[in-house]
Amino acid sequence: MLKIGLLGYGTVGRSLAKLLAERDAGIELVHILRRPGKAGGPLMTDHFEDILDDPAIDVIVDVLSGTEPSGEYMRRAMAAGKGVVTANKAALALHYEELTALAREKNVPFLFEASVGGGIPWIENLKKAVRVDRVDRMSGILNGTGNYIIDRMERFGMEFDQALAEAQAKGYAEADPTADIGGYDVANKAIISASVAMGSPVHAAFPVLGIGRISKAFLDDLRRSGRTLRHMMLFRRNAKHYALGVVPVVLPLGSIEANVRDNFNCATLSGDIVGELKFYGQGAGGRPTADAVLQDLTSIRTRMVEEVRESLPISYDASLLRGRGVT
Ligand code: HSE
Repeated sequence: MLKIGLLGYGTVGRSLAKLLAERDAGIELVHILRRPGKAGGPLMTDHFEDILDDPAIDVIVDVLSGTEPSGEYMRRAMAAGKGVVTANKAALALHYEELTALAREKNVPFLFEASVGGGIPWIENLKKAVRVDRVDRMSGILNGTGNYIIDRMERFGMEFDQALAEAQAKGYAEADPTADIGGYDVANKAIISASVAMGSPVHAAFPVLGIGRISKAFLDDLRRSGRTLRHMMLFRRNAKHYALGVVPVVLPLGSIEANVRDNFNCATLSGDIVGELKFYGQGAGGRPTADAVLQDLTSIRTRMVEEVRESLPISYDASLLRGRGVT
């Protein structure tokens, strides 16, 4: 059994707990960290130290939102020799350099598939591509809420606010949906993707445009001329420079991205050998995102059991975890 401590019990945390109860994945949920006053149920605590100081816990799963205290919790977990799996794109984008370096230094697993693209296996496939190819172009619809809003306005004539309220009710939007609409959620995902693609953290500032001003009338006008709009991350690089941006992009109606519906995401990479690859699926929502977290946990468990070190994106010494309940 791989033993985990869960930080956060919102949409994704609850879905993960439910998935773990449904599936025999060899993963045991030992503690759940909740805010003071909310930690009444079984397994729950409002003290991070109850998780950090429990030697039985192998991996900490961060499904909190916002940059802090996630950053601090992940740092302390790694320093204590625990693996970390995070879905928190804001904390990861801000602390990418420090956390990836610390994971290497401490030889602990650090995986973040759920931080970009919800249920789409994007990060793992990007890491695989980077091992062989030079990835010099990426693009993506990476926000399920934004895509849901544009799709509902376009296909069902819904007003922006009504579509947003539906996306919130379905558990796609952030607690504060300003990040979804303003492009900052995509910007965090763009920083993470570009850092993985380049093998080094992105530091430069880049343009971020939101979709708050998109009207039904504008979408109707585009449609009449055979076009539509999608909110996208764009990345390009050559030997010396790179460019990154988050922008509403006008596309022909026949393009693949123009046909991405609902909460779906579509992320594309272009490698110099493999050419173009596209990854498509549910980009937001409790269950798909929890599935991505579970995929990471299962990878750690499998890798620990099999000790296949060379296939790890970030190497760690499996012997560190042997004898700690991993079978
Ligand atoms: N609010 C995010 C979205 C959740 O709508 O895509 C998944 O990262």
